[in-house]
Amino acid sequence: MKFGILSLAAAGLLAGVVSGFQPQQQQHHFAHHHSASADIRTSSDFTPGKLYDSQRLIKVSAAAKPRWLALEDILVLRRAGVRFMDITDTQALHTSSSSSSASGLVEGYTSRLPTKLVRGEEVAAAVEGLTTKLYGDVLRPFTAFHNRYYDSENGRKSSEWLQGQIQDLVAASGANVSVSAFSHRFPQSSIIARFEGQGSDSSETVVVSAHQDSVNQWLPWFGRANGADDDGSGTVTILEAFRVLLQRGFAPRRAVEFHWYAGEEGGLLGSQDVALAYKKAGRHVAVDLHFDMTGFWRGEQVIGLVSDHTDPESRALVKRLAAAYTRLATKEFACGYGCSDHASWNTAGFRSAMAFESAELEGNTNIHSPRDTVDTLDFDHMLEFSKLAVAFAYEVGYDKASA
Ligand SMILES: *[C@@H]1O[C@H](CO)[C@@H](O)[C@H](O)[C@H]1NC(C)=O
Repeated sequence: MKFGILSLAAAGLLAGVVSGFQPQQQQHHFAHHHSASADIRTSSDFTPGKLYDSQRLIKVSAAAKPRWLALEDILVLRRAGVRFMDITDTQALHTSSSSSSASGLVEGYTSRLPTKLVRGEEVAAAVEGLTTKLYGDVLRPFTAFHNRYYDSENGRKSSEWLQGQIQDLVAASGANVSVSAFSHRFPQSSIIARFEGQGSDSSETVVVSAHQDSVNQWLPWFGRANGADDDGSGTVTILEAFRVLLQRGFAPRRAVEFHWYAGEEGGLLGSQDVALAYKKAGRHVAVDLHFDMTGFWRGEQVIGLVSDHTDPESRALVKRLAAAYTRLATKEFACGYGCSDHASWNTAGFRSAMAFESAELEGNTNIHSPRDTVDTLDFDHMLEFSKLAVAFAYEVGYDKASA
């Protein structure tokens, strides 16, 4: 009975957000999810973290009222492909007046983005150093974790492994760059690597980000989720940019941080925790450029630029950077609510943009399944995104801080 009532709650959310979702299909989903969820509860492999002892507060659109849902209902949403934010622990991010439209304006701080690109020489020299070698070297072991589900031991281990790779790169370069784990209420930690800013506003920070977790949408806790494209590709796209910046002795005026978020697939959990912590600490985040899936494209080869839950000045900057420093044009497309971690910064009132592998959101049908493998990725395509990350770090990182 409890089950049926909660399913109705999820059904209400689904009806509100999934356009063209037929009642017949809904029946099918619920029938399927009933048996699969029973399997999950009784499986000896089922060791959920503390998160699912109680219901979670889930938001499926900017306008919709958040709803309390249990594990089973969240699985229903996931299987229907609904993107959502789990705001249980970050409600303060969502109650303030500074959302979407007021990006870059936080408590007296105005983020100023460069209007002219003036770091061409440094960017060109750094881009020379980018190769595709690290992509395969890191992705093969990274996708060999059975999954990288944030609320599991797999997720914890994959995070610790990735942090080790990042620390090894820093150690090999001899650069004075800090690498730290940002822990959450679930086993997987986000990872933050920081180049200190040489300018006067030590709290002003430029963020380059991706998410490290993966999910099998049918069996999150013990299903296979290689997560090569989603988001192993973004993870190594920014890692290669990070490696080259280390090699170049990158010493920006603004602090530049690389973030690998935990728990994106759980409703942007890691990035919301980080954004809320930064906001509470009064940190000045100039802008976040997020990379969620960079390796798979069909049809028109472009850099997809998310048009919603981002701000126009950040999008304009990315367009200019892509035109100047990559061989791909950009093309805007709407990604929807809870699309990825750029939305956490946008919700917090900071600037953000998101670069995506194509302008077609549903192009890669392998994701969230065992078919999301390294051999489906185009490393040369990914290299253009690493160029974009490098160019962004130089042009925004070296730009004069706002007064
Ligand atoms: C490394 O950076 C930190 C933070 O800016 C600074 O406090 C420390 O003195 C630096 N260490 C070295 C060896 O330069």
